[in-house]
Amino acid sequence: MYQSHRDRIHLKAPGSWINDPNGFIYYRGQYHLFYQYFPYAPVWGTMHWGHAVSDDLVNWEHKGVALFPTKYGDQNGCFSGSAIENEGRMHLFYTGIHYRQPNPDNIHNCLENDFDACQMRLISEDGIHFDNFNEKCVVIPCLTNPRLGDRADTRDPKVWRGKKGWYMVLGSRTAEERGKLLLYRSDNLEDWTFAGSVTKENEFGSVWECPDYFETGGRGVLIFSPMRFLEIGKEMTSQTVCMTAAFDEDSGSMTLSDTYQYLDYGLDLYAAQSTEDAQGRRVVVAWLRMPEAVDGKWSGMFCLPRVVEVKNGHIYFRVHPNVEMQYTRSVSSVEEADPAGYRVSLELEAGKEINIGGYRIYRENSRICTDRTAVFGTYENYRTKFSTPEIKEGNRLDIYVDENLIEVYVNQGEYVISNTVYGLSRDVTAPPGVAVKIETLDREEK
Ligand code: FRU
Repeated sequence: MYQSHRDRIHLKAPGSWINDPNGFIYYRGQYHLFYQYFPYAPVWGTMHWGHAVSDDLVNWEHKGVALFPTKYGDQNGCFSGSAIENEGRMHLFYTGIHYRQPNPDNIHNCLENDFDACQMRLISEDGIHFDNFNEKCVVIPCLTNPRLGDRADTRDPKVWRGKKGWYMVLGSRTAEERGKLLLYRSDNLEDWTFAGSVTKENEFGSVWECPDYFETGGRGVLIFSPMRFLEIGKEMTSQTVCMTAAFDEDSGSMTLSDTYQYLDYGLDLYAAQSTEDAQGRRVVVAWLRMPEAVDGKWSGMFCLPRVVEVKNGHIYFRVHPNVEMQYTRSVSSVEEADPAGYRVSLELEAGKEINIGGYRIYRENSRICTDRTAVFGTYENYRTKFSTPEIKEGNRLDIYVDENLIEVYVNQGEYVISNTVYGLSRDVTAPPGVAVKIETLDREEK
């Protein structure tokens, strides 16, 4: 299916710009992954949904644009959303954006953040054809009551089938600019009624973007991306967090744990979305934010698909087994590795360091730390050093290396640090006396 290594292992922008993953679904025997897409330049602009498919979550094929503005409600963009299957058809739910003032200088950006948002749906018969002219409708009009949610900042519908009906969670904010979620319920996927809302008592970001609620192994998990969450230093202030949660279908209430984790401690990933794979595992992907387009041509890629599991109240993100088993060819040096990437595995004791093409990974007491200073420029809002929380036991690292993305899995997904990098050299300097395994993809041209 693939022509080059470009979209093997990591799905990358086909050119221009991508951000959030959307409509992630296993449908009629294939994985479909849509994404926020601006087709004209490597910058954010009027949002379309690009579309890619895969048989195995390893090889991706771009299918072009699926959703684009055609209606009053989505005139200025088809923002993030999700997909479900019902009676064989694919339903895409997304947020339609309509700018309230024209912008004479750049029609792809909104003046004064003055826009309306509504929740829309497009039905596709086969997941391949998307009739943007005849098959769209508004399912939740723009909100007019600020006590319910903000007219502009209410978005990113994630829909799932519950035991007693269909449910939708939306990201929103209160009139006081505190993040909140809105929950809706439907019997027919067309008429939606408000079921409840969720917020947190203490400061916890402004708008809560891209919420995703699911159950795995009997435990509820909520992932969302609060804006202005981290305002303490030099980093992206919007960050993706996750926590255990419980949704009660009868009362429409959701309770959230008091503690949270970052989805990824590299703080570059954002706007995660999950689905169930062919075997019923919960799999999540997220957008890797990049401060600069590669070769001035493309910006944005997705992390490896990660299986989500809850053990003793902790949320683990481990590499999907389909990806894990691709790295079968052992090599003694990175020069022999496939251009689509390699994996380095080792046990890293306190005080030791491994350097991967200029990217440092070291252990300080019981934390795994990384430093990308040598393989990253100086960009406003981007940090260069990262650290996991304290680890109680285990030193195992599995490091997945691609040209512009390094993912460090600590103890099989107890924590992950993923970072955007530019200009990695093709070498690995291991700590003296430590056994390091380097494995690469074993490609067979199809
Ligand atoms: C998150 C986000 C979403 C929105 C989309 C627009 O990155 O801001 O809330 O739907 O991106 O591209």
